[in-house]
Amino acid sequence: MVNFYTSFQLWLSILLIYGYNVLVMAQWPSGGSTRYYDFKVQTTRIAKLCNSKDMVTINGMFPGPVVYAQEDDKIIVKVTNETPYNTTIHWHGVRQKLSCWFDGPSYITQCPIQAGQSFTYEFTMVKQKGTFFWHAHISWLRATVYGALVVYPKSGVPYPFKVPYEEHILILGEYWLEDVVQLEHATAASGGPPTPANAFTINGHPGPNYNCSNTDVYQIDVVSGKTYMLRLIHAGLNVESFFAIANHKLTIVEADAEYTKPFTTDRVMLGPGQTMIVLVTADQPLGKYSMAMGPYMSAKGVKFQNISSIAYFQYLGAVPNSFSLPAKLPSFNDNLAVMTVMDGLRSLSSPVNVPKKIDRELFVTIGLNVQKCHSKTPKKNCQGVNNGVMAASMNNISFVKPKISVLEAYYKGIDGYFTEDFPGAPLKFYDFVNGAPNIIPNNTEAILNGTRTLVLEYGTRVQLILQDTGTVTTENHPIHLHGYSFYVVAYGTGNYYPQNANFNLVDPPFMNTIGVPVGGWAAVRFVADNPGVWFMHCHLDIHQSWGLGTVFVVKNGKGELETLPHPPADLPQC
Ligand code: C2O
Repeated sequence: MVNFYTSFQLWLSILLIYGYNVLVMAQWPSGGSTRYYDFKVQTTRIAKLCNSKDMVTINGMFPGPVVYAQEDDKIIVKVTNETPYNTTIHWHGVRQKLSCWFDGPSYITQCPIQAGQSFTYEFTMVKQKGTFFWHAHISWLRATVYGALVVYPKSGVPYPFKVPYEEHILILGEYWLEDVVQLEHATAASGGPPTPANAFTINGHPGPNYNCSNTDVYQIDVVSGKTYMLRLIHAGLNVESFFAIANHKLTIVEADAEYTKPFTTDRVMLGPGQTMIVLVTADQPLGKYSMAMGPYMSAKGVKFQNISSIAYFQYLGAVPNSFSLPAKLPSFNDNLAVMTVMDGLRSLSSPVNVPKKIDRELFVTIGLNVQKCHSKTPKKNCQGVNNGVMAASMNNISFVKPKISVLEAYYKGIDGYFTEDFPGAPLKFYDFVNGAPNIIPNNTEAILNGTRTLVLEYGTRVQLILQDTGTVTTENHPIHLHGYSFYVVAYGTGNYYPQNANFNLVDPPFMNTIGVPVGGWAAVRFVADNPGVWFMHCHLDIHQSWGLGTVFVVKNGKGELETLPHPPADLPQC
């Protein structure tokens, strides 16, 4: 326990220095409480990779503070913006039961918190526990504004696995030397793809593969023979990642804050927006082992960072400055490795309570597009494929964020900010995967821009097919739905045909972000029983910027327990 207490005390002192109201304890906190946190959005000077820059942080920390709670606790976070940038915070994976106003995506559920203003988020972890995270949900600020949200089971409720000796949080990220807000503007203006990150990071540290980073590396000291719980969180922007530890097996026991049947593997893949608990037993000879994060890039013709970020899994008693044993990551385009992990994800309990009857079948294509260049300075502004402008869409609608939040417009009945005509199926069916090769103008320009939403009656049992298209390039897209988790009942490669689909209605994983297979499809099911306005989008930020998203408007049901309450008084104004 020595280590646990040391690291715990370290945390506590860090937290106290930064002046929080912490209720963090070595033991699980007692239930039904309220957890208060104070988030100051600040500009902080950070040195990394032989450079330093001012970047946006919470309370000067990178990654930001960990929010701890227990199942059914209320969490209250006062966010005060001391930077010149607009901001919001999203609580990724929190279902926000009857609290849509506090979900956080800018222009979907709220206007940004402007410079000098504050907004207090308040929500309850209703029947939810596990590994979550929070991140800025506006422009690309989430590249630096993110942190873990750890929710323990209720007191006396054990984990469905042996209590680990220690737990550690590992947040995977991407780091740019440039200012990310400027970078986003420059990317948008160029019409082309984004600049790859200068480094991948684990808990903010690039590790020894990068310049000036030999000591900028995260390390876990382990005791031989003990089992460790690693809470993996993918907070990166634009690239999916493989993760592995040299010579050690990983046993997945939780994905997207829901328990899974234990599944043991050499490596895992997480897309941005996904979380996972893996258990690792220190059962190897004393030594220093690499924990590595490297890219999974399924798209064709995309530039990306290909140097892996390394952290250390260091046995106590091993020679301290020895070289670390390298971790074996799959090659960047190993689709099979991804499928193997996906096949291993099964809900812990079976049978699960997945809807068997479906009221509404939705079919949504996801993919990239190229729009014609209309600029007088094409060299500057049309750097997309074939000198066009990059875009992305669902069912060929490229989502445009409105000037006030969709939720406010909907709730107050203000006309003119969104429409209710997002199509429940593509306008035409064709060979989505192979029918639109990478050449213009084969169907890549025929997209419409708009703030189109799809309205669902309260309680609708939805089946949603997400179909990747080969327009521009096929790619694995991490599609995230706010306000819900969904059962991933089937997936496959190629085009979706019901007769070929193999549905798992017994123990499908319950997730909030699904990596739709490259050139393939995924079928998910959920019951629309949380009224509000819920964003569904690709969690690759560049795709979201290009319009890869849509919004579900879920109507109120009957009575107080099925009705979205009034907005909070301090809801920011646009
Ligand atoms: Cu973690 Cu809308 O995102």
